Amino acid sequence: MLAIIGGRGLNHLPNLEVTHRQVIRTPYGDPSCPLTYGRIGGTGVVFMARHGYGHSFAPHEINYRANLWALHSQGVQCVLAVGAVGGIRADLVPGTLVLPDDLIDYTWGRKHTYFDGPDQPVVHADFTRPYCPQLRARLLAAAGKLGVPLATGATYGVTQGPRLETRAEVARLERDGCDVVGMTGMPEAALARELKLPYAHLCLVVNHAAGKGASQEAVAFDLVRLSAGMDTVGQLIEAVCRG
Ligand code: HPA
Repeated sequence: MLAIIGGRGLNHLPNLEVTHRQVIRTPYGDPSCPLTYGRIGGTGVVFMARHGYGHSFAPHEINYRANLWALHSQGVQCVLAVGAVGGIRADLVPGTLVLPDDLIDYTWGRKHTYFDGPDQPVVHADFTRPYCPQLRARLLAAAGKLGVPLATGATYGVTQGPRLETRAEVARLERDGCDVVGMTGMPEAALARELKLPYAHLCLVVNHAAGKGASQEAVAFDLVRLSAGMDTVGQLIEAVCRG
């Protein structure tokens, strides 16, 4: 069974044949939403809307531990996360799909580990490669089959939000080696790793990061591109499921 975590612009999967929904409780509190179960082709799929249905949780308010725990408790084999990002690298313009192969975490104050508290063991999960190479390869193969351009070799900088960045902050992210910037990539990826769940993050660029692109003024989300890009994401997910 494949889990999909949908972000901004993807709070349901149009091509999912839904069988049922279920409210899951976890030792870490409530996940963002009930889980939606169904099938795409021969593959069982569980879908979760990261921000809740109706986009009610800001990135720093999401209970990432409950979300990942809920998916893990359902026996999913891997997690494909989807998220909107700002483009830093010049070629990663709005509308581009990106499959990062690395990340830098700038978030703070989020509950970011299951190995917390007096009765928990001290565990240092390996995170050399935060994203699962096999799941990434499946996505790249699906994109190749569909003829959908999918940029790779990118580093995802994860900021705290909910505000967007300053130009100086984006310049620093760039110096650090970040190619895209978003707010929800962590601790999600690390918690998946602690649970030994293979995880990849498919990103859609919806704006030039602050100070990038032709306009040096306020960041503008491209909602038309968001909607068109998420349609393509749906097709990619379907191709992965039909593999
Ligand atoms: N910065 C941070 N998060 C984002 C952005 C951005 O420019 N665009 C979409 N999510």
